Amino acid sequence: MKIIGISGTPGVGKSSIATELSKLLGLPRIDLSKEVIERGLYVEYDEHRRSYVIDEDAVRRYLARLYDEIGPYILDSHYAELAPKHLVELVFVVRLDPAKLIDRLLARGWPASKVAENVEAELLSVPTLNAIEELGEELVVEIDATNRDIASIAREIVDILFGERPAFLGHTIDWLETMPRDRLERVLRFVEMHRS
Ligand SMILES: Nc1ncnc2c1ncn2[C@@H]1O[C@H](COP(=O)(O)OP(=O)(O)O)[C@@H](O)[C@H]1O
Ligand SMILES: [Mg+2]
Repeated sequence: MKIIGISGTPGVGKSSIATELSKLLGLPRIDLSKEVIERGLYVEYDEHRRSYVIDEDAVRRYLARLYDEIGPYILDSHYAELAPKHLVELVFVVRLDPAKLIDRLLARGWPASKVAENVEAELLSVPTLNAIEELGEELVVEIDATNRDIASIAREIVDILFGERPAFLGHTIDWLETMPRDRLERVLRFVEMHRS
């Protein structure tokens, strides 16, 4: 086993799934956002977007060094594709119905503009496309977490890792094609209204 990435838009359930997976597999969970801040793996803090701009090369070096030190781990990160390709087992991109994501992120107390930015990214499959760009389709699997409990999602991931369930590689979930029209329009209106 190599590095198992759990990626996706903020709020889709990465940390919940990665924590459960860590128990099932007995592997450590690395929360990359926390490491980035604690180890200063960023270039600057973007006041407007209220987020750190990561130093991608420093993060790549850190992830490779960590693998040398502790062996396989679960990488819980919005940009899990920064794990060096030769050290990646698979990156699972967690997907969530964008209408549900709006509710989740608003419940977190996030400003509507930041919610809109992230919901737009989910709608357009940005985390998946980024992962494929870095790693290629053969290392990326999307998981639809909508209306599913954490335990069953974590089990599905374990089954895929051990070849007990087929993995559909690459970009397989497109909300623009599968969401009912009225629901999609509601999401688009929210994004349009609040995007800065
Ligand atoms: N499959 C799920 N079903 C119900 N609630 C979930 C599910 N996944 C995550 N949540 C809840 O949604 C919120 C965001 O989940 P979290 O794991 O922190 O997401 P992320 O790490 O991707 O930002 C948490 O309150 C969590 O309890
Ligand atoms: Mg998280």
